[in-house]
Amino acid sequence: MKPNLNINFAGIKLKNPVLTASGTFGYGYELADLISLKKLGGIVTKTITLEPKPGNAQPRIAEVEGGMLNTIGLQNIGVKAFVEEPLENLKKIGVPVIVSVAGAALNEYIETVKILSKFKGIDGIELNLSCPNLKKKIVCHDLPLMQDVIKGVKKVSKVPVIAKLSPLVTDISELALAAQKSGADAVTLANTYPAMAIDVKTFKPKLSTVKGGMSGACVKPMSVRCVYDAYQNIKIPIIGCGGIMTGEDALEFLLAGATLVSVGTASLVSPENLIKVIDGIENILKEKKVKSVKEIIGFLNTTRNAC
Ligand SMILES: Cc1cc2nc3c(=O)[nH]c(=O)nc-3n(C[C@H](O)[C@H](O)[C@H](O)COP(=O)(O)O)c2cc1C
Repeated sequence: MKPNLNINFAGIKLKNPVLTASGTFGYGYELADLISLKKLGGIVTKTITLEPKPGNAQPRIAEVEGGMLNTIGLQNIGVKAFVEEPLENLKKIGVPVIVSVAGAALNEYIETVKILSKFKGIDGIELNLSCPNLKKKIVCHDLPLMQDVIKGVKKVSKVPVIAKLSPLVTDISELALAAQKSGADAVTLANTYPAMAIDVKTFKPKLSTVKGGMSGACVKPMSVRCVYDAYQNIKIPIIGCGGIMTGEDALEFLLAGATLVSVGTASLVSPENLIKVIDGIENILKEKKVKSVKEIIGFLNTTRNAC
């Protein structure tokens, strides 16, 4: 029997638990010629800001053992251009759309979400509170600012608000709890890991900004641990993210407590990997005779009932 992959996430209904991860799938519709976007659980867009951003100087990408470093620096067309074209195209796909939002200050987050709130076709807002590639401090490293951003955005958003956190903190479960207390409907764990690499032939850093964010298979065990720790401390649902390349990887996150997963670097390698992750989850559940994906969320955890 085919397992049921349907899932309700903070009120958003998805046909399976697999999302694109922000920034690794463009605005979310450009790859329609390469994969059937309708098969995805949902799409998380590239992070949008109030004004367009050119991003950081090249080189912005470096390969490392088991993964990659990036310092894109939130290059995007700005919210006004986003609602004109990309959003119109996204609406036509027929899967939930989560728009990722960032800002250089509290008012930029709020203004961007205010503009988005005037448009139909947005099912959720993911607040990027964790970009490691900007000159400023990572937002969630400034607890009062993070709390103000979540509270402020909650007041103007008509859809669920998801806080995407940095894994580089002393205790992710405390940070996730702070996000929950500020009113977040869910958290995404986690963004990339601040990292750097040096070219020993040139004696220069491999990224223009010296440091960037690490992603890919090498980060998976650390991100699974983030989900596991947070799951024990919070009641709101979790999107697990970091190094998911296969259905088995996604299952690890679900067992640790994630309700959904988002796939980044693997979809840069090949967008088809997103479909492989969905099929992989289905095959494992079938083999294990699990009727619904809901049964395995947090299954590993003994301190909270699996749903
Ligand atoms: C090239 C690149 C660009 C990214 N851009 C964003 C972004 O705009 N906003 C964001 O929240 N995360 C961004 N991320 C982080 C991913 O969404 C994801 O959290 C991270 O890469 C870990 O997942 P992965 O190992 O599956 O890639 C980016 C990652 C990469 C590799």
